[in-house]
Amino acid sequence: MRKTEELKREAACYAVRFVRDGMRVGLGHGSTTWYALEELGRLLKEGALTGIVGVPCSEEVQEHAGGLGIPLGGLDEHPELDLTIDGADEVSPDMGLIKGGGGALLREKIVAQASRREIIVVDEGKLSPRLGTRHPVPVEVVPFGWRGQAAFVRSLGGRAALRQGEAPFRTDQGNFILDCDFGPMDDPRGLAVRLERRAGVVEHGLFLDLATDVVVAGEGGVRHFGRGEKVVL
Ligand code: A5P
Repeated sequence: MRKTEELKREAACYAVRFVRDGMRVGLGHGSTTWYALEELGRLLKEGALTGIVGVPCSEEVQEHAGGLGIPLGGLDEHPELDLTIDGADEVSPDMGLIKGGGGALLREKIVAQASRREIIVVDEGKLSPRLGTRHPVPVEVVPFGWRGQAAFVRSLGGRAALRQGEAPFRTDQGNFILDCDFGPMDDPRGLAVRLERRAGVVEHGLFLDLATDVVVAGEGGVRHFGRGEKVVL
């Protein structure tokens, strides 16, 4: 059986094949997109790819991509991106996603909304019949009054855990993350709307109708699903 890391690398490198000279490219956060950064860096170094500008989804990605020699810019100079390569924590057959396992969901969503194409790269272990089966929904909340947001999540039927080690995890915006376990969800759209209406909730990790492509690496090889296709192996 091939290792998950190998599958992540295969999915990421497959997606990099969609990057063309001169493109503005959103750079997602996470261990899978890490391989895409390395591949982009290699192609630029070898001269096989030229003139791209990467827009990082986190401070960590900015540092790593910069170190690999990827020219970087921001959304202010490049408000429209040709494509973004990003990972996901869970993918449903209709290309719904749970994201934010790495805590970068807010910038990832902003970048996804600015992208003509949002290519999600995953190993097959991320596929799920229903969102919430494999991963809680990360919800970014402002620290002020955060316990009230945890209680609100409970009122919606979820269990909310503050992401923390010795101290609470802080996002690049200085906010907290509540990992909210709703179990397999019947109505992720309804949940998304309720969370969006709540003051103190900055963003949630439900990415619905944002992915245009999903690249899945598994034991049987790499499969690419385009918009409208069912993501099932
Ligand atoms: C970052 O906040 C997340 O949205 C990641 O894209 C997601 O957690 C996938 O990460 P891995 O590729 O490390 O599994």
